[in-house]
Amino acid sequence: MEEGWIDACAIDDIEEEDVIGFEHGGHAYALYRTLDDRFFCTDGLCTHEQVHLCDGLVMDTIIECPKHNGRFDFTNGKAKGAPVCVDLKTYETEVRDGRLFIKAG
Ligand code: FES
Repeated sequence: MEEGWIDACAIDDIEEEDVIGFEHGGHAYALYRTLDDRFFCTDGLCTHEQVHLCDGLVMDTIIECPKHNGRFDFTNGKAKGAPVCVDLKTYETEVRDGRLFIKAG
């Protein structure tokens, strides 16, 4: 595996259309699985008030923040309207042998 890739979890650790949290090197990430089995990774904290998005709700490719219901498209990190206006950072993902890897940093 090239430098920068981290083994984050087993793909079965994430339910379909769901999100889990993952921490590495003091940084919080959110890992997502879509209904059609695609995997995505974003920063784990909402850009509005630093709330953990893994406690939020996944609907299709949208993550809804648990605090003020701000929404992001987790496939590209785009903020989808008030109260969130700053996009989420996204990270590359790759599935290998049933494990989800993310390219951190
Ligand atoms: S903390 Fe996420 S929308 Fe306010």
